[in-house]
Amino acid sequence: MKKAFIFDLDGVIVDTAKYHFMAWQNLANSLGISFSKEQNEQLKGVSRVQSLEKILDWGNKTISEEEFTRLLSEKNEEYLKYISKMDTTEILPDVPRILDYLISKRQRIALGSASKNARAILEKVELYTKFHTIVDGTNVSKAKPDPEVFLIGAKELEASPENCIVFEDSVAGIQAANTANMISIGIGDKEVLHEADYIFKNFTEITEEFINQLVKTEKA
Ligand code: BG6
Ligand code: MG
Repeated sequence: MKKAFIFDLDGVIVDTAKYHFMAWQNLANSLGISFSKEQNEQLKGVSRVQSLEKILDWGNKTISEEEFTRLLSEKNEEYLKYISKMDTTEILPDVPRILDYLISKRQRIALGSASKNARAILEKVELYTKFHTIVDGTNVSKAKPDPEVFLIGAKELEASPENCIVFEDSVAGIQAANTANMISIGIGDKEVLHEADYIFKNFTEITEEFINQLVKTEKA
């Protein structure tokens, strides 16, 4: 059976979740809206448009369509400023070890991200060529928790959903993987990601034995 290992990008491969947070906070502040770290968990994995909708909702604010579009590009411009300075030092601990181990075991690897900036970020941190396929915010019509992004990844790697393993740092992403009937691995806080099949603080906790076990198991 063909396996597919699908990685989210922001907060899993690179430490960009903090940049999204900073850019959204600055934008919210400019509108007189404040939101907490806990609320920010709800923005992780979620598309740019839906993130802004949530923030406006928290602030009980309605704005024109034009203003909405303007704010979206303002947020992205600030985010692009942060990522333009990125280099390989922003790859999260042990991500290359796991990717290289999977490659050495001839496993297939996909990116499954909501971000429209995914390809540019992978180039910046020199990980682009590690992926057999990249599915990102430019390829999907439905945002996580909808499983579309992971189902496309599975199809492109010719693996059935039960044979897919998803690494995610967001609640929406774990829900998407579970809905797709894939094995979900949470990377981050176990209280936040409790719906995942397995949870690790980061990749340094993931052993080669665990990967070998995943290669052999199918989602029940
Ligand atoms: C996800 C992030 O990966 O991508 C979200 O977790 C972000 O925070 C989403 O909103 C869309 O990203 P971008 O780069 O297209 O604005
Ligand atoms: Mg993420």
